[in-house]
Amino acid sequence: MPGIERVSAGRTVAFARALRGEGIRAVMLFGIPRSKDARGSEADADDSAVALAIRAFREAAPDIVVLTDVCLCAYTDHGHCGVLRGDEVDNDATLDRLGSIAVAHARAGAEFVGPSSMMDHQVGAVRDALDRAGFSNVGILAYSAKLASAFYGPFREAEDSAPSFGDRAGYQIDPRRAGDALAAFARDAREGADILMVKPAMPALDLLARARERFDLPLAAYQVSGEYSMIRAAASRGWLDEPAAISESIEAIHRAGADLVLTYFARQIAAGAGAK
Ligand code: PBG
Ligand code: ZN
Repeated sequence: MPGIERVSAGRTVAFARALRGEGIRAVMLFGIPRSKDARGSEADADDSAVALAIRAFREAAPDIVVLTDVCLCAYTDHGHCGVLRGDEVDNDATLDRLGSIAVAHARAGAEFVGPSSMMDHQVGAVRDALDRAGFSNVGILAYSAKLASAFYGPFREAEDSAPSFGDRAGYQIDPRRAGDALAAFARDAREGADILMVKPAMPALDLLARARERFDLPLAAYQVSGEYSMIRAAASRGWLDEPAAISESIEAIHRAGADLVLTYFARQIAAGAGAK
């Protein structure tokens, strides 16, 4: 991914301070494990890169809100978002893993966790696990309408999380099925989500606008790696005015109904890109 780097756990204190100095107010953390196995063991370890990074942020930049991605694909040796039974993802076994990962992140100090593996009832399972562990104050950013999108490619390479066989169409939402996405918002709201999210952003502005009309919860949109990389690539060839394209894309996402935008352009925006 152009312009995006991985930060080792030992550098997160310095990184947190740098982001704070740049005016960044919230971060979403993703991890890469030392080693991968079938059940993604490192994902809920108290010394995982994410757990260490959470602590570093809480200490070095306590006013930055820390959210985490709760999934298994970067931690499993097969690259799927859950544990497998045969060649299929085992939904209920995965829910237990997601709950345990969320609790590990909460223990390290995360303020919001974002279950993103797209198992059925992942929000309810994570809510239960957090409450039982005494973390009823930790919020859930629900990846509700997470589409089986072609726009996640650069992220999977950066996070080394592409599935080694098959695809994620069995658990992510079919982009042609708006009804499934709307049902997913309703289910996640019922199961205790604090924020509902749409992902990707620009290819799903219609879903964002429809969710805005139906739900009072805060809405987030994730401008994903492919959306980011397209703008970067076109700008690097002189085909787009990058700051203008950044601001138009973010404004469109807000206009459609997002209260929050997750974007890889955050540092550029904080530095004034596209400011009007
Ligand atoms: C983990 C996860 C993915 C992204 C965010 N969380 C990858 C996927 O679903 O394949 C993609 C983010 C991006 O493309 O920027 N499940
Ligand atoms: Zn995943």
